[in-house]
Amino acid sequence: MSAAATQPFETRRTFAIISHPDAGKTTLTEKLLLGGGAIRAAGQVRARGERRRARSDWMKIEQERGISVSSSVMTFERKGITFNLLDTPGHEDFSEDTYRTLTAVDAAIMVIDAAKGIETQTRKLFEVCRLRDIPIITFINKIDREGRHPLEILDEIQEALALDVSPMSWPVGMGSDFFGVYDQINHRFMTSSEGRGGPLDTVKEVSGLEDENFRDGIFDTVLADLEENVELGGAGYPEFDREAFLEGHLTPVFFGSALRDYGIDQVLDFIDAYAPAPHSQPATGGRTIRPEEDKVTGFVFKVQANMDPKHRDRIAFVRLCSGTFKRGMKLKHVRAGKPITVSAPIFFFAEERELAEKAYPGDVIGVPNHGQLRVGDTLSEGEEIHVTGLPAFAPEILRRVRLSDTMRVKQMRRGLEDLAEEGLVQIFKPAIGTNWIVGVVGVLQLDVVVDRLKQEYQTEIGFEPVMYNTARWAECDSAQKLDKFLETNRAHVALDRDDKPVFLFKNAWEVSYVGEKNPDIKFRETREIVHTDE
Ligand code: G4P
Repeated sequence: MSAAATQPFETRRTFAIISHPDAGKTTLTEKLLLGGGAIRAAGQVRARGERRRARSDWMKIEQERGISVSSSVMTFERKGITFNLLDTPGHEDFSEDTYRTLTAVDAAIMVIDAAKGIETQTRKLFEVCRLRDIPIITFINKIDREGRHPLEILDEIQEALALDVSPMSWPVGMGSDFFGVYDQINHRFMTSSEGRGGPLDTVKEVSGLEDENFRDGIFDTVLADLEENVELGGAGYPEFDREAFLEGHLTPVFFGSALRDYGIDQVLDFIDAYAPAPHSQPATGGRTIRPEEDKVTGFVFKVQANMDPKHRDRIAFVRLCSGTFKRGMKLKHVRAGKPITVSAPIFFFAEERELAEKAYPGDVIGVPNHGQLRVGDTLSEGEEIHVTGLPAFAPEILRRVRLSDTMRVKQMRRGLEDLAEEGLVQIFKPAIGTNWIVGVVGVLQLDVVVDRLKQEYQTEIGFEPVMYNTARWAECDSAQKLDKFLETNRAHVALDRDDKPVFLFKNAWEVSYVGEKNPDIKFRETREIVHTDE
């Protein structure tokens, strides 16, 4: 596929890894970077993370809990293909940031622990991918350990996610009987010269399962099981079909061990050959932005503050959708209606950051700024256009902010605005009363907010429960009707940070009750982040 590429964007593969904590995302990331020649030694992803963490106090929470709250972009090149790996935080309570990162990828690798199967977080993230028709590549990890039977895992994926599975390889034994991986597509056997359980260092070309060169030294029981898997698998699961994969109906499944390097090259080769090049992006006015268009457009899917604690600068992560970006370009910041000269755009390579001289659709550049750029913003070469499809999700946990020192209300508000910008919290300003309410997707985020306000804004806050636990964006075709509704229900109304009205409910029952009573008003669980300043 790559050989046929005629335009630079066709050599871009922008993807994310989704998984439940502990399934092996960090290990796989590291091995993909190693496989792509982006880093030279194992342990660097973690070490890099730790160095970064050491610099910033709030990240102590991450360290203590062994999670990674912030996410980043890692770019590497392999065989003429530029891989842009966008990291999605995978801890138990994840934030909007995770969802939004998925709006900027063209494919995702779903890592599953062979002993655990589909876990809650994997399922949630998978649903987001499905909403966006993102093609999924499945990596069943840790087959060097005792795990569930391969067919059982395949069936579980198929049933739990209503997704066709197409096995691309098979484990040759698992756990203490682990001999390697049989690549049935390319007729190769990946194994270790160190014997059972060793790291991958030998690739044998084999004509098939009968090949003595393959069978030699493998336990009969393991061979019998493999033969059965291949036979039942061939009969029971569809063959790989690229169209079905691109449409998100079918997932190719690779068995592997990230720790011992099995499956890494296969996945990289697969992404190279079959994962989609950058897709078109829906936009306002019925426009679809196609990557081959001449003019540059891009959108901000993430903003990170304090990447360098010495500065208050932020980095806006911009995914390019079309055109050829060149450093120093003057682009239009569409929401503000102002030009912005992008003089120091950054590429995030695994080991270093570099000035981005040129970037193509699918690439992600970091644009340093002082807070002008917000998630959902579009940059263009003058066109009045807004990329669509970035959702804000109704938070599941609401708390009123309590400030210890009332003199610091300004700092608190600025801090909360900043954190809202990063997608860590949502803020709601009640129509009655002055204390803001924050909304989060998971409770852990509350701790992070308290800690960051203390460290970065020298402001101590606490949270109080509120009587509400559900927020919905209120919309209506008639502005008049909406105003009237909001006016009569002021006690339940708040404005979000874009001054969009939100109705606060006590519980799910109330959502349907109020909904029935007010059929003209739509109570939305998600809201498009499009800053049209209308
Ligand atoms: P995460 O980012 O998804 O949370 O997972 P991570 O890669 O940190 O892996 C979680 C644990 O699983 C780590 O062990 C890691 O070494 C182990 N692991 C990952 N892939 C494999 C694999 O293919 N086979 C085996 N046997 N183990 C694997 P840990 O003890 O928690 O951490 P560490 O001390 O090894 O770093």
